[in-house]
Amino acid sequence: MSNLPIGMFDSGVGGTSIWKEIHSLLPHEHFVYLADSRNAPYGEKSPDEILRLSIKNTEFLLNKGCKLIVVACNTATTNAIDYLRNTYKIPFIGIEPAIKPAALNSKSKRVGVLATKGTLSSTLFHSTAQNHAEGIEIIEQQGKGLVELIEKGALHSASTRALLKEFLKPMIAKDIDYLVLGCTHYPYLIPIIKELLPEHVTIIDSGEAVARQTKAILEKFGNLNKTLDFGTHRFYINTDVKVLEPFVLGVDAQKEVRFLDF
Ligand code: DGL
Repeated sequence: MSNLPIGMFDSGVGGTSIWKEIHSLLPHEHFVYLADSRNAPYGEKSPDEILRLSIKNTEFLLNKGCKLIVVACNTATTNAIDYLRNTYKIPFIGIEPAIKPAALNSKSKRVGVLATKGTLSSTLFHSTAQNHAEGIEIIEQQGKGLVELIEKGALHSASTRALLKEFLKPMIAKDIDYLVLGCTHYPYLIPIIKELLPEHVTIIDSGEAVARQTKAILEKFGNLNKTLDFGTHRFYINTDVKVLEPFVLGVDAQKEVRFLDF
């Protein structure tokens, strides 16, 4: 069991930001990553549709023999993780906006959250915000359009910068001192966001925490890969492999990107 791969899925390429964190912490693990780019963005879909897609992705990864699944998508986690955990036997690691550390450390008591509509309107997001951000004003902002731009390779375009400028404006006006990135596509926007935000604002995402949690759960079940060889990484995408390749380039690992008619 321990030498089976870790499965990961996202609505597209964004979850590779999480893959990088987990791979750097657990270099001996094998991975199967599924980018359901044909159905992106999930954030604008109904909870039922997000659940249906999450089940489809999970079953694909189970058929690949994965020992654990990382739901590398805030939108899928906040809408489907309870169902997945109650339905399938293997462990699931989810990702949620890191409101808790932001709320604990904020001095201005105002925290911005940039996430998809699907995440911001979920019950799980609301209960996390209620339980961990008492006395904190949360300035929520839907990042409508950002996932589409990243998926079509327009990360560094003028349109991306213009959208971010519009989305961050109300947060700057409110004097936030923490910005929580609640979508796994958004860490790729950090260089642009940094240029747009005042210097004192700290940007946080959940990637490192997810990697630590993945390691802890594998350890708990005695399922860390025991080999000292480096893991292999298989990526599947149901649009064009060229969309995914730039996001995994430059990472020192044995990788293969395949097209999947899925
Ligand atoms: N990476 C997904 C997330 O974390 C993007 C959601 C979408 O496709 O809208 O929420």
